[in-house]
Amino acid sequence: MSPKSNLAAASLALTLAGGVYADEFDAASYHEAQCTRCHDSGVYTRSDRRITSFPALEAQVARCDANLATKLFPADLSQLVEHLNSNYYKFSQ
Ligand code: HEC
Repeated sequence: MSPKSNLAAASLALTLAGGVYADEFDAASYHEAQCTRCHDSGVYTRSDRRITSFPALEAQVARCDANLATKLFPADLSQLVEHLNSNYYKFSQ
């Protein structure tokens, strides 16, 4: 492959990945818009936080999301869990 077609392939891959994930669901803005109604992100970092494992985090996010009218698809829900984990909880999974 020439360098040029490598570049084309890479940008096609990015476009496809973006179309499937990033463009449709933005975990950070969703969180900002929907998840700060009842609590802010302080509950994720408080010293007596309740969530102490990745599976527990998944379950809690699903429970909280069920309170919202916007029920997420499973793929989006897991992006939201990843978002919280990488920014706050940092479980190794
Ligand atoms: C209808 C109100 C409500 C909404 C909306 C809501 N939550 Fe919650 N959430 C709660 C309550 C109540 C708790 C428990 C707080 C406590 O224990 O003091 C909680 C706790 C949590 C915890 C556990 C915090 C800990 O102690 O470690 C996480 C994680 C969480 N919520 C994520 C989310 C996410 C993600 C969203 C958006 C999808 C969301 N919440 C939206 C009510 C809500």
